[in-house]
Amino acid sequence: MIKIGLLGLGTVGTGVYSILERHSENLKSKIGTGLQIEKILVRDIEKQRDIDIDGTLLTEKVEDVLENPEIDLVVELIGGEEPAYQYILQALKNGKSVVTANKLLIAKYGPELMKMAAEKGVSIYFEASVAGGIPIIRPLRESFAANKIERIFGILNGTTNYILTRMTKEGQELDIALKEAQRLGYAESDPSSDISGADAAYKIAILSSIAYETVIDIEDVHIEGIENIEIEDIEIARELGYVIKLLAISKFTSKGVDIRVHPAFIPVNHPLASVHDAYNAIYLHGDSVGDVMLYGQGAGRFPTASAVVADIIQAGKEIYHGSPDINGNIYKNNHGIMDISQVENSFYLRLQVKDKPGVLAKIAEVLGRNQVSLASVIQKHRQNPVVPIVLVTHQVKEEYLQKSIAEFKNIEEIVAVKNIIRVEEL
Ligand code: NAP
Ligand code: HSE
Repeated sequence: MIKIGLLGLGTVGTGVYSILERHSENLKSKIGTGLQIEKILVRDIEKQRDIDIDGTLLTEKVEDVLENPEIDLVVELIGGEEPAYQYILQALKNGKSVVTANKLLIAKYGPELMKMAAEKGVSIYFEASVAGGIPIIRPLRESFAANKIERIFGILNGTTNYILTRMTKEGQELDIALKEAQRLGYAESDPSSDISGADAAYKIAILSSIAYETVIDIEDVHIEGIENIEIEDIEIARELGYVIKLLAISKFTSKGVDIRVHPAFIPVNHPLASVHDAYNAIYLHGDSVGDVMLYGQGAGRFPTASAVVADIIQAGKEIYHGSPDINGNIYKNNHGIMDISQVENSFYLRLQVKDKPGVLAKIAEVLGRNQVSLASVIQKHRQNPVVPIVLVTHQVKEEYLQKSIAEFKNIEEIVAVKNIIRVEEL
């Protein structure tokens, strides 16, 4: 019998508990022995829960899990940095294998945690940390192992994809769509992590580490969120043949890993444009396999619990049959991260300008002097005395675009730069 200590019984923890109960016989036959939940750590033992549970399993004392010699496997589903980090570290130090859905911890402390696991001869699994129910960690480590992975594009945050879908399809305001995403259990306990792009950045950092066997310093990843996206941007994107997605991008280049998270215009006929609601997708290119897309539910109780339980089965087999994790160190190299100023993109710019003769010429002069060439200029309906102007550039280095934006301050007729969004042709 494999004895499990669960840390957390929220959205995902409850799903894991239910699956372990519902499929206990099936799981036993897959592993060769049964799984038993020995203790569950929660913050508040008196809280009303939406599942029937034997109250004696619950505890508010972490020692009941971490110092319990009966427990072989610790499943961390608390989330956030602390105390989850200390709990996982202690579990590993105490010779317990760990399963976690915590992308922040793996992105920030992956090398240390894996080193500790290796020293203690135990394993740490984190399939649910990226893209909820979609299997991607094990496929990257095993199924695509014959490939040199060259690039990864991902819609990796269910909450923001849900919000952008509601804004696009129904014209809903961001705040209202966020409340619904929270109600459905997609959002982090601090949803600013979703909205700001940080959650997707942790996930693309994890995928990049595995794909290129490199350390990725999360502090160096360029991150922008969806805070500034307005319905007007979505409508203009549609007119131009694009949709707006929060895109996680990772490309292996000779100048380092081009890794970033930001909203992007993507062509409406690209497969990623059809990923709606809390669904996620990973579109990657390997030198042998070519293009592959993996698609599924990126957040929510049971999709995420599905990935956690898959890891529990894997860890359970190892514990029962005594075979170690043979996948080895994924942090072998340090390829570095490409500076965003050197990345080339085309850009959508939405400006508010005073409706005066010569203003377009002044804007074009600044852009031209900074090597930014225009693919199109659209002047939207007149709202005197201020009119919206949309510019789409050809491919240009980010530093030249930013220099132009800085110089726009000298053009008195520019009232506001309302938005700047990269256009990814994928
Ligand atoms: P959640 O609903 O907020 O649940 C957190 C659980 O942890 C609750 O049971 C809470 O106890 C317990 N907890 C929180 N702080 C604690 C502390 N200091 N000491 C002891 N217990 C504590 O979170 P979740 O949505 O299940 O997410 C869990 C993890 O899965 C996170 O790492 C998240 O990023 C990841 N994840 C979530 C999803 C998703 O769709 N939700 C998808 C993929 C990955 P109480 O019940 O007593 O409050
Ligand atoms: N808050 C995360 C999301 C949960 O919305 O994608 C899944 O990691």
